[in-house]
Amino acid sequence: MKSYQKLATDLPQPPDAYAEEESIARKPPYHRQLSTWWLCVGLLMVAVLLSGVTLWMLKQVPGDQLGQTPPEKCSAVPEPFRFDCYPEWSVVVTKELCESRGCCFIERVQPRGNRSTKPWCFYPPDFPSYTLESLNQTELGMVGLLRRKVKAYYPRDIERLQLSVEFETDTRLHIKITDSTSPRYEVPLEVPRATKRAENPIYSLEFSKEPFGLLLRRRASGAVLLNTTVAPLIFADQFLQISTVLPSIFLYGLGEHRSHFLHSLDWSTLTLWARDVPPMQFYNLYGVHPFYLLMEEGGAAHGVFLLNSNAMEVVLQPAPALTWRTIGGVLDFYIFLGPDPNMVIQQYHQVIGFPAMPPLWGLGFHLCRWGYGTSNETWQTVKAMRNYQIPQDAQWNDIDYMEGYRDFTYEPEKFDTLPQLVEDLHKHGQHYVMITDPAISSSNPPGSYWPYDEGLRRGIFINTTEGQTLIGQVWPGLTAFPDFSNPDTSQWWLENLNRFHALVPFDGLWIDMNEPSNFKDGSVHGCPWGEFDNPPYVPAVLGGSLSSKTTCASAKQRVSVHYNLHNLYGLMEAKATASALIQIRGKRPFVISRSTFPSQGRYSGHWLGDNRSKWSDMYWSIPGVLNFNLFGIPLVGADICGFSGTTTEELCTRWTQLGAFYPFARNHNYLNDKAQDPAAFSSVVRTAMKEVLLTHRAHLQGHTVARPLFFEFPQDEITYSIDKQFLWGRSLLVTPVLEPGVDSVTGYFPRGVWYDYYTGTSVNSSGESLKMAAPLDHINLHVREGAILPTQKPGSTSWVSSRNPLRLIAALSQNASAWGDLFWDDGESLETFEKGAYSYLVFNVTQNVFTSTVLHANVEATYITVDTLTVYGVRDEPSRVTVNGKENPFSYLDNQVLTVSHLNLKLSQGFSIRWQ
Ligand SMILES: *[C@@H]1O[C@H](CO)[C@@H](O)[C@H](O)[C@H]1NC(C)=O
Ligand SMILES: *[C@@H]1O[C@H](CO)[C@@H](O)[C@H](O)[C@H]1NC(C)=O
Ligand SMILES: *[C@@H]1O[C@H](CO)[C@@H](O)[C@H](O)[C@H]1NC(C)=O
Ligand SMILES: *[C@@H]1O[C@H](CO)[C@@H](O)[C@H](O)[C@H]1NC(C)=O
Ligand SMILES: *[C@@H]1O[C@H](CO)[C@@H](O)[C@H](O)[C@H]1NC(C)=O
Ligand SMILES: *[C@@H]1O[C@H](CO)[C@@H](O)[C@H](O)[C@H]1NC(C)=O
Ligand SMILES: *[C@@H]1O[C@H](CO)[C@@H](O)[C@H](O)[C@H]1NC(C)=O
Repeated sequence: MKSYQKLATDLPQPPDAYAEEESIARKPPYHRQLSTWWLCVGLLMVAVLLSGVTLWMLKQVPGDQLGQTPPEKCSAVPEPFRFDCYPEWSVVVTKELCESRGCCFIERVQPRGNRSTKPWCFYPPDFPSYTLESLNQTELGMVGLLRRKVKAYYPRDIERLQLSVEFETDTRLHIKITDSTSPRYEVPLEVPRATKRAENPIYSLEFSKEPFGLLLRRRASGAVLLNTTVAPLIFADQFLQISTVLPSIFLYGLGEHRSHFLHSLDWSTLTLWARDVPPMQFYNLYGVHPFYLLMEEGGAAHGVFLLNSNAMEVVLQPAPALTWRTIGGVLDFYIFLGPDPNMVIQQYHQVIGFPAMPPLWGLGFHLCRWGYGTSNETWQTVKAMRNYQIPQDAQWNDIDYMEGYRDFTYEPEKFDTLPQLVEDLHKHGQHYVMITDPAISSSNPPGSYWPYDEGLRRGIFINTTEGQTLIGQVWPGLTAFPDFSNPDTSQWWLENLNRFHALVPFDGLWIDMNEPSNFKDGSVHGCPWGEFDNPPYVPAVLGGSLSSKTTCASAKQRVSVHYNLHNLYGLMEAKATASALIQIRGKRPFVISRSTFPSQGRYSGHWLGDNRSKWSDMYWSIPGVLNFNLFGIPLVGADICGFSGTTTEELCTRWTQLGAFYPFARNHNYLNDKAQDPAAFSSVVRTAMKEVLLTHRAHLQGHTVARPLFFEFPQDEITYSIDKQFLWGRSLLVTPVLEPGVDSVTGYFPRGVWYDYYTGTSVNSSGESLKMAAPLDHINLHVREGAILPTQKPGSTSWVSSRNPLRLIAALSQNASAWGDLFWDDGESLETFEKGAYSYLVFNVTQNVFTSTVLHANVEATYITVDTLTVYGVRDEPSRVTVNGKENPFSYLDNQVLTVSHLNLKLSQGFSIRWQ
């Protein structure tokens, strides 16, 4: 939460000489000139290639080879297909500079200060690239050799590349391009390997030989999902670039950014480089997720993951086309063919790892504040929450609790009662989480601070190029940065946490500042001049330099140089932290991290770092939450209500209603604020039960928890751009109010019957937007036809320990059926699923009978009872209702709602309820 203040001067400055009007008005049809170089002589080189792979030999067109391209050839390239040949931000591109790269120069008008630019300098159609020289079969796919005859314009351009293709599954393809002669840095992520070649892939892959290109199609529709011949492949040591045309404009993912859920392809550059900055549009933020999901025509979807941890940019342009531009590593792509969006995400999570099951209390309500002056003040807050009977699962502390902002210490005077506070929380079934920053204060005088002294002794800090401990500055003053790529660091981290746990028995950890953030650019002594701190190309990172507000890119870490590992810092710290928590507590770890990278969902959740109390920030939280579900980090939320003093009662009430549906719900506000109306909180608690179930689903199958509408309605194109509403799991539609001063809200309802969650009144939508009443105390929730939702009455302090009975809501489909399930475990033990320590039930309704079937039973569920069944959409008033064959009283309302109460049925035993 400690964001280092960004200065206006941090912004990369775009070229400022935009004087003349664009001279090119007419654009001839694109295919006219393309057809000359994509001329297929139709010679099939490898006739019997498996899996529908065909290698076409293409007529070789002599390129002008870094010479000047005739103007008519340049102007013939349609604007949307102009791929930037001179992306350098710090340079005003001139004709000479552009032509020295063998590219086309067409000056144009540019809005000042806008980084979403159409390029002035772009590749001519025949810009030299690689040629596919040979292609051989391997067990899993094929391996090929790419060769470039003419050098491109970045230093250490690599002449020979190895292409390897693995047909890993019928829906997953792995394509890697790297130096064929010397090894390059690769992300140390364990990825499951295929053992045999896919037998019936739902895709086919073709190659263009000269220039080299990949063409990926979906077999069922013939849709071209990737076509990389559209711009040259460039592979220099510190500049790697590959472009592709896209089959549609419906592109999602590519985090972490503050953006609408649906990206704009109208010239935008997304920069990926972990950065400490309050969330702002257009710039690189805390985490890095080089993954996109794309909706094709007809509701199919695919995803592409570039496994690369270097600073990179993704350029989106209206062709529609996408360019990956990274400054290191290899081009290592995983492609997921779905065919529906849920399956794409599952396939992606299969590769990066499914999210961990958080402890149940982690899904409850968290209270946090920066500026609790003392532990007694923190304690007062907890007590007041109890007085108001507002459920609270965890109390947090920010950096105030530390002595001199040093990790693993607490302020002995102001926070004198911290251990007692934590003990008291535990007595009430509540939990304690505190902030921990990675940067370790130097020891002054030497020998006075064990974490630093011992860290030095064990050599676990990040070093400068000269091999000295790199010193930066963070909250405590001068600091060193632990190198979590070194296994000894994890052991040292564990020992530190363990020592502190003996004093303050915390339950979870909030790892902040782990981009890693540094108040000095690079180090207190800056950075040495060299290839890592001054690479030939610097992506459009905030601050204009890789070392801006972090350590030097040249810094030495055990596995590699920081240049390669920077984006992995948060992931590696989260992994060490989760592992330490398991060893200390023996229970499911709860870790919330600011910086993230693919696979981090296995170790931590994330908060969006957003702490501004603004209506727009509340909106931005929805695309943020939806994105992190795609990224495999479903335990995510924004700070509810915001931190600053300008929160209004209205905003906070609306935000709390929305925040109830963040999987990770943490509030920064003080409870005495009238806006924290307990009635608003009750919705948190009402839905808490569902959160558990859904998060569990995410654990088992990689499903999303808070999901975009199009995941469930992929055929309905209207849903593709919706990010002001979302689905909670598969069946609950959330329509929050996101603006001030209104008492109604308009939401879209995909085709089908939807029931008001509270009343059961139905709407039969033909796929339309509807205006609904939305008074301040109400958030609109609708249940999708065919769903059965288990709900639970909230407990007064902590819902986790509550043994309150369940109410089941069945929302009948148009053919009067419904389905739902429930997973139940103790909420904190490790591997309950693997050990069978859980209960699993399936509910269904067919032909006027509700059935609960126990598929797996465990003692934990025996104390839970079902009190009430409510059925929405019962068309005819029943004359009698029987429960397990015995007559039972019921009520029926005009809006077709049947309620059967006082059931007192044991959840651990199957039952049936019939109405006729
Ligand atoms: C967010 O809050 C932190 C302190 O909690 C503060 O340093 C930072 O400036 C705030 N950012 C914004 C954008 O309000
Ligand atoms: C850049 O221009 C586009 C289109 O004109 C606009 O939507 C966007 O907000 C601008 N971005 C900035 C940073 O000004
Ligand atoms: C393919 O096989 C041929 C013949 O054995 C060999 O010369 C060539 O180097 C191989 N290519 C690759 C990329 O392995
Ligand atoms: C692939 O892209 C090239 C270059 O833009 C184009 O000429 C070709 O027609 C495309 N191929 C397909 C199958 O779309
Ligand atoms: C906190 O409360 C305890 C118990 O009431 C008291 O002994 C202690 O002095 C208080 N600490 C501070 C810093 O006020
Ligand atoms: C950093 O320097 C220390 C002390 O010289 C040494 O023990 C350690 O191995 C170095 N670490 C790396 C990654 O170079
Ligand atoms: C509903 O449950 C009953 C009892 O377990 C089962 O026989 C039936 O097949 C189920 N129906 C559906 C549609 O799942």
